[in-house]
Amino acid sequence: MVQFTFIQPDGTRNTVYATPGMSVMETAQHNGIGGIIAECGGSMACATCHAYFDADTIAKIGASEGNEHEMLDFAATPRSEHSRLSCQVEVSEVLEGAEITIPDSQV
Ligand code: FES
Repeated sequence: MVQFTFIQPDGTRNTVYATPGMSVMETAQHNGIGGIIAECGGSMACATCHAYFDADTIAKIGASEGNEHEMLDFAATPRSEHSRLSCQVEVSEVLEGAEITIPDSQV
């Protein structure tokens, strides 16, 4: 299991134990974490799973690319260099200790 933390816009922190191979979006939903809507179910067609990853984690997992990068233009809150679609980030050991901030709005 991999442990990382979701941070809500109000600062509420929820640390979860995640299963490698699942996506961060699936992990949020399975743990009842609010704010990750994921309307398209993970097919990279909605941008309602937008999340901001801490700088150290982005350095490890890499910035968005290709279709994911383009889809982030449709996110409801401004993208940054820390933005990823959480359905496209697979849980692995590199997420240990990560801090993932959920945007104010997804729609
Ligand atoms: S769940 Fe729709 S793009 Fe991630």
